[in-house]
Amino acid sequence: MIRKYTYGSPFQTDAVVQQKKTEHDTLPYFEEIKEDGQLTLKYQLDQEDAVYGLGENVRGINKRGWIYESRCMDDPVHVETSHSLYASHNFFVVSGRQSFGVFVDYAGIISFDMGYTHLDELVMKPQEADLDIYIIEGDSILDIVRQFRQLVGQSYIPPKWAFGYQQCRWSYMDEDEIRAVVKNHRENQIPLDSVYLDIDYMERYKDFSINEETFPDFEGFVQEMKEQHVRLVPIIDAGVKIEEGYETYEEGVKNHYFCKNADGTDFVAGVWPGRVHFPDVLNPKARDWFGKSYKFLLDKGIEGFWNDMNEPALFYSEEHLQQVFEKLGEFQGRNLDLDTYNQFLGMIHGLPNNREDYKLFFHNINGKMVRHDKVHNLFGYNMTRAAGEAFEELEPDKRILMFSRSSYVGMHRYGGIWMGDNKAWWGHLLMSIKMQPSLNMMGILYTGADIGGFGDDTTEDLMMRWLQFAVFNPLMRNHAAMGTRDQEVYRFDHTEDFRKIIQMRYALVPYIYSEYMKAVLKSDMYFKPLSFVYPEDSHASQVEDQLMVGESLMCAPIYTQNATGRYVYLPEEMLMLRVRGPEDYTCERMCSGHHYVDAKLSEMLLFLRPGHLLVLVQPADSVEQLDTTKVKVIGFKGQRASYELYDDDGFSRNYDLDQNVTKITVEEDGSVTVAGAAKLCVETELAE
Ligand code: GLC
Repeated sequence: MIRKYTYGSPFQTDAVVQQKKTEHDTLPYFEEIKEDGQLTLKYQLDQEDAVYGLGENVRGINKRGWIYESRCMDDPVHVETSHSLYASHNFFVVSGRQSFGVFVDYAGIISFDMGYTHLDELVMKPQEADLDIYIIEGDSILDIVRQFRQLVGQSYIPPKWAFGYQQCRWSYMDEDEIRAVVKNHRENQIPLDSVYLDIDYMERYKDFSINEETFPDFEGFVQEMKEQHVRLVPIIDAGVKIEEGYETYEEGVKNHYFCKNADGTDFVAGVWPGRVHFPDVLNPKARDWFGKSYKFLLDKGIEGFWNDMNEPALFYSEEHLQQVFEKLGEFQGRNLDLDTYNQFLGMIHGLPNNREDYKLFFHNINGKMVRHDKVHNLFGYNMTRAAGEAFEELEPDKRILMFSRSSYVGMHRYGGIWMGDNKAWWGHLLMSIKMQPSLNMMGILYTGADIGGFGDDTTEDLMMRWLQFAVFNPLMRNHAAMGTRDQEVYRFDHTEDFRKIIQMRYALVPYIYSEYMKAVLKSDMYFKPLSFVYPEDSHASQVEDQLMVGESLMCAPIYTQNATGRYVYLPEEMLMLRVRGPEDYTCERMCSGHHYVDAKLSEMLLFLRPGHLLVLVQPADSVEQLDTTKVKVIGFKGQRASYELYDDDGFSRNYDLDQNVTKITVEEDGSVTVAGAAKLCVETELAE
């Protein structure tokens, strides 16, 4: 059951797709305090209560014990004590004495104190008291999540090739560098489905332009790569360069499609190209225009994009920068003591992403000027929505890969996300594991972190362990920042081990794709915490470093340097696969409980649940080349088990669940039946 409560006059975010009527009674569960215009909502937490959700954020799967702030932030050095990351995902479930879900539909800045100030108090404080709150009750956590997901609509579906392995770097500078990357993967038989184009493919960082010196025949090159089953995926940045004669800029200025200053002039900020304007993607006309601009690249054969810097990130606002320049002179010749030195540094460090600068510009929403900070968290969402809405018109019969850095609930209908600029830190690998189920709760299913870490130099073992977890991530992309160590997997000593782990991903693609699609079509989660699946098991709720992956599997990644194994908790008897590659694994039946299991650097662990099946295919160089008609099914000997395998053409928008499912059943005596959409040749491997 979902009930909606309204405070003041909220801005319509378009997060929900089911319209609910506002209730007249008071908000349940929470104590409401109004003081000096500040609304505070408090819930008394029981010692046993867990709080799940909040999507893209630091810390645990259970969010208790920290204060989070929904404020989309460009923070490439985020740590455990950060309060905000790139997104605003205001949905959580309290589970314990009383269980209920809360979705705060609010475009402005809001804090969620989950037992930080007082261990047993959950406190929400919005910047202004204009918001909708949805209270969701259900039979279980998963039921609450499912209802929320239906409220906010169906998740985005990428093309199937986007479930392959993807390689990125800031930046591959020209055609030849990309050719070499592809050649090295192919020669080493490391599967690969796409290579990313970071900001340097553009002419001086101008959206919807190509650097013709480094990419002299862009269209031809896109085609050449496709012939090798490799898609190129260009980046699109939020800021549009200010440059006379540049079409996107000229059109935006002429039609008033850019965000404005209070005096009606176009707001100027600094990002990669220097001075830019921000497209006013909250204005429906401007959104339509910006989205249609992607046509420039679609027409050149491009089938996927990533939207960046759309918090929106700003290096500086022109106004603030001028103030700093004026003040800097005052420091010249002075003895900079502690205070003055800090003031001096603070002026420079205060330039990027300054809270005050977000109050300087305005959106034109149906004729009304709305100050940006009041709707700040909707920018990335609407930039991606711009593209998603345009793709539906421009490419009605084709799925386009799209994912964004910044997001708000609702954006999951138009694209996925990556987890922003992480570091080559073991702690960030663990964080990416914990973040996955929280993101899935929001409906964001197509997601993954930059494998190996984006900032700082990675190590071979970190890369290996990260890949072993990323095998299960729908978005599996290796990405690194400028100036860091080369981290394409063929750069390391043990290329063969990397090849086999990536091949394992390809062997799993039919299962991963099937589970992804079922999660989308049934408003389910692809990654689940153990506690969601085994609610009665008090140990399961303590496990934050193992995840259920779809209906059959559990993964237990290793995220500690030099570890040659780990503790694993099995809520029930399971089959453990210790995997080096698709043809190179051991199977062992293990009883429920705590175990220490060995896993050498080249080995990953995965666990199959009883009564379930694991479906594998032969790996190939790319997703398109997989032969999905011949499958190997792994299960328990002497147990009846079945699996519903979803498959479709992978690019059209026809996702009928009934038409696209094939049911594979293994009987107690080991005989197999196949019924439904596909004709499959099934080989079984049943463990004693
Ligand atoms: C931002 C992105 C990163 C990208 C870089 C250059 O930091 O998050 O992925 O490589 O910009 O475009």
